[in-house]
Amino acid sequence: MPKDDLQVMRDLMEAQREGFALPRHFYTSQVVYDNDISMFWSRNWIWVGHVSQVAEPGDYFLFDYGTESVIVVRDRDGEVRAHLNVCRHRGSRVCTERKGKARSFICPYHAWTFDLNGKLRNGRSMGPDFDPGQYGLFPVQVKIFQGLIFVCAAETAPPLDAALEQLAPLSKPFDFENLKIAHEASYPVPANWKLALENYLECYHCAPSHQDYSRSHSLKDPAQVLEFSGALHDRMKDAGVPLDELDLTGQNAVASGADVYWRRYPLFPSYMTGSKDGAPLAPRLGELKTHDGGATDLGIGTLNYFLVYADHVVGYRFVPRALQETDIQIVWYVRGDAEEGRDYDKEALTWLWHVTSLDDERIIRHNQEGVNSHRFEPGPLSEMEWSIPGFYRNYFSMI
Ligand code: FES
Ligand SMILES: [Fe+2]
Repeated sequence: MPKDDLQVMRDLMEAQREGFALPRHFYTSQVVYDNDISMFWSRNWIWVGHVSQVAEPGDYFLFDYGTESVIVVRDRDGEVRAHLNVCRHRGSRVCTERKGKARSFICPYHAWTFDLNGKLRNGRSMGPDFDPGQYGLFPVQVKIFQGLIFVCAAETAPPLDAALEQLAPLSKPFDFENLKIAHEASYPVPANWKLALENYLECYHCAPSHQDYSRSHSLKDPAQVLEFSGALHDRMKDAGVPLDELDLTGQNAVASGADVYWRRYPLFPSYMTGSKDGAPLAPRLGELKTHDGGATDLGIGTLNYFLVYADHVVGYRFVPRALQETDIQIVWYVRGDAEEGRDYDKEALTWLWHVTSLDDERIIRHNQEGVNSHRFEPGPLSEMEWSIPGFYRNYFSMI
């Protein structure tokens, strides 16, 4: 009997050479993809939004990944909650609008009605013996870190709290709590989600693939990071940005999926933020006294990445849609009281990560095309791709 795909996957995990890329099976097998959704995505924390999107009771939005859909809503008591968007009657999606304001969720199929907190209020004509208490929406866990909302569909979620406690004082001056969304965009790429994530995790490709990014950011060259770090640290002190770094990833993490990473690196001289000409793009975040000309790489969990400039934050996630279909979703945040047109120009604000994401879409697409070849063999990773083996270890420990 031929080996099933999961067995092939396990054998490949056993045989995986440290410091090498993954074999094609991980990017081409539907069974591996389905397993990724249930064992990795549904058991990790996923950044889905910001509290400003659910400011009032009844405000809600949907977040979808793989086969799953999650309703994120502020209930009548002011709690942010998340429910699986699956009716407990015969399974229909309960909520079909992407976002809005609701008093309750009424299933469009047979009109079972759920309260904002997920309780079934009323199962229509179900008879006297029917106990609605048994049929609430399946709860999804919610964690809010300084206004950023994360969900996890598993009963036991990765224990993030201790790492977030260490992160809190470093990110506090940027006042994430009071951000607002300036723009959201989705870049669909015909590739497996892991190729999209791996691309984000390394800047080995930045010099050859990202001309615009490389003009302003030092990360493409470790020597340049060093060269400009001293001056950045002086400017960080002036701006009121803590100098500490945090690397609680891989072996430093208390558990798989509980990783947190925070490191600020210098933009090139005369660049105050990630803009075309180096000029500020928006009002400074939080308590910052000056534009320090730095960019923080922030990772929370294994699926959620942010770039923190002095005047805006760019959030990244790589959401699986199908085996070789992924949405690169980007959210640009600015200060909550900043007004478009007056305080920032949306085109200018989003320019860099728009053009960079178009580059990424192209290189990730070509990456998948090559990986699909029967002759593809994983090659060795460079030192500049150091975070990829960390991701593999994390991934292997959860699938
Ligand atoms: S499937 Fe929702 S009420 Fe029937
Ligand atoms: Fe890139």
